[in-house]
Amino acid sequence: MAVTYNPQTKQFHLRAGKASYVMQLFRSGYLAHIYWGKAVRDVRGERRFSRLDRAFSPNPDPSDRTFSLDTLPQEYPAYGNTDFRAPAYQVQLENGSTVTDLRYKTHRIYKGKPRLNGLPATYVEHEQEAETLEIVLGDALIGLEVTLQYTAYEKWNVITRAARFENKGGERLKLLRALSMSVDFPTADYDWIHLPGAWGRERWIERRPLVTGVQAAESRRGASSHQQNPFIALVAKNADEHQGEVYGFSFVYSGNFLAQVEVDQFHTARVSMGINPFDFTWLLQPGESFQTPEVVMVYSDQGLNGMSQTYHELYRTRLARGAFRDRERPILINNWEATYFDFNEEKLVNIAKTEAELGIELFVLDDGWFGKRDDDRRSLGDWIVNRRKLPNGLDGLAKQVNELGMQFGLWVEPEMVSPNSELYRKHPDWCLHVPNRPRSEGRNQLVLDYSREDVCDYIIETISNVLASAPITYVKWDMNRHMTEIGSSALPPERQRETAHRYMLGLYRVMDEMTSRFPHILFESCSGGGGRFDPGMLYYMPQTWTSDNTDAVSRLKIQYGTSLVYPISAMGAHVSAVPNHQVGRVASLKTRGHVAMSGNFGYELDITKLTETEKQMIKQQVAFYKDVRRLVQFGTFYRLLSPFEGNEAAWMFVSADRSEALVAYFRVLAEANAPLSYLRLKGLDPNQDYEIEGLGVYGGDELMYAGVALPYRSGDFISMMWRLKAVQR
Ligand code: GLA
Repeated sequence: MAVTYNPQTKQFHLRAGKASYVMQLFRSGYLAHIYWGKAVRDVRGERRFSRLDRAFSPNPDPSDRTFSLDTLPQEYPAYGNTDFRAPAYQVQLENGSTVTDLRYKTHRIYKGKPRLNGLPATYVEHEQEAETLEIVLGDALIGLEVTLQYTAYEKWNVITRAARFENKGGERLKLLRALSMSVDFPTADYDWIHLPGAWGRERWIERRPLVTGVQAAESRRGASSHQQNPFIALVAKNADEHQGEVYGFSFVYSGNFLAQVEVDQFHTARVSMGINPFDFTWLLQPGESFQTPEVVMVYSDQGLNGMSQTYHELYRTRLARGAFRDRERPILINNWEATYFDFNEEKLVNIAKTEAELGIELFVLDDGWFGKRDDDRRSLGDWIVNRRKLPNGLDGLAKQVNELGMQFGLWVEPEMVSPNSELYRKHPDWCLHVPNRPRSEGRNQLVLDYSREDVCDYIIETISNVLASAPITYVKWDMNRHMTEIGSSALPPERQRETAHRYMLGLYRVMDEMTSRFPHILFESCSGGGGRFDPGMLYYMPQTWTSDNTDAVSRLKIQYGTSLVYPISAMGAHVSAVPNHQVGRVASLKTRGHVAMSGNFGYELDITKLTETEKQMIKQQVAFYKDVRRLVQFGTFYRLLSPFEGNEAAWMFVSADRSEALVAYFRVLAEANAPLSYLRLKGLDPNQDYEIEGLGVYGGDELMYAGVALPYRSGDFISMMWRLKAVQR
């Protein structure tokens, strides 16, 4: 690994893992993008793009009609001075104009990776793990400086990018657009992948060819959202799960984002990503600065699995933080689908008794324990225990749960307020709203204005009191609606469009404070299931509730899609009751177990309503998962068969030393007289023999190259799980 600058060629060369990323200064300080891909020793910059007099591509230097920014591949393009493609940034001056001209000023290369002030970001533990390059660009006319921040990791094909704006001049500047990165690919011969969805149907994989014009994934909902995820990839036409070139872009942010690819007239592709410029501006007074969030860019020449494995390892070990980062996560049971709002201490303790007997480790009390919360129409914001339901408080309940041998966890939704609450009656201006307009409700609730410091401070104190009041070791941090009428009573008119981003900065401060005050608590984020399953949240909370849809068949797609970017340890997956509450399907307990055991495992049902046989099966599932959980949560994950492409799905987990593996196979619908199918495994040691429990001993080479014949079974929604262990034959 090294980041170098060659003063002769004026080239910057970042070497990250086995990849190269090359930039070059052209003419009077334009920063051009030259190459990104498999490591090279050298690239001849000027040969990488055309120097032709192109019609309708104007020239900043009238004496050279072959030079236009419209045809120059760039790193941080502007609009207004000859490039007509989507810009990375746009700044308005006091005179109303929006033309700026950033040129190279200076640069700095150093070991390690700096933190991003107030924002989540990947990090290093030792400065040898990465090298950072900062390139300072400046607009001499207005004293604007933009520092492009690049970090290249040593171990992975990972480059992170962000940008910092500094107003060093004397006038007020307004950022209209401040994306985190932009990169120009010399060709558009790629497919692109994004992860659209909906509540209960998050992160379905869509792959389609790039076409001329703009294609984008974005959120305007005030959260990263169920509807789109802050991730896209460019995928070579011949690339699949196991081979071919893939470029991943993942945004470490939980709010409005834009991820876009523009294919231009010359069939080049510009990828840009950052805070969504839609409804965003930021006022930069003289002396002020603005930091964009980070984009994590991964190059893989090993197909989509190669890309995902890089994201998994990086996000598990250098994005997630805290005591639980490397720790096996407890098997939990959540009372939501068991009782909804209808519970009391006696009922909960009764359920907990059976759960403890089955070996479950953590009891989570979901919504309904506070204020007058008997349904979802009231009391958010009133974080005071409901003594009618819990006469001995959280402490009394938690102690009884502890005595049964289980830990105690709690649900909170601290970013919200119900109009029907004490908090709202006292502070009606503490929610997002605009003057003189109605406040639209979602699930009968309003969004607290986290752009306000006083609101954040109040929440930190109130929730801290709750968490300190009982032996709580787990928190589910929920967020159940998106933002409307986005405005803040604490901001002046010219800063209203800063509200959504200021909210995120406030939220990040609150989460930072909470997780630092309570380092012994495992935090899981949630937003109506996986509505905020993003890297920003994972920085503070190492796991996320993947989806409110717990149906095993639906989960095949949801978990498969989520695994494109996010580590298995981060993916909450629970067995729930049948008929399933979201889709009405009846899948066997075995299949439900196999799907949930492919993630961060737990249950979400009333265990006392099950038969003795079912309870025994749960006991076995719990014991089995405890045995394989290190492998599942921290092993290398391979997707084998895609549920988006057919009737089957399969994946596997391999231990770091390849001595152990776990394979899961699912078939959705039965077919009469079906052809035989073979499943080819991945990631094993070809020279090693493996025992598959119940099936005998096979060579790693045989399992990977010839495959294993799938036993024929009749019935819908069937699953199989095999455990492999290296043996001497
Ligand atoms: C959201 C969550 C659920 C549950 C409910 C409680 O929908 O995703 O898991 O906690 O809220 O109201």
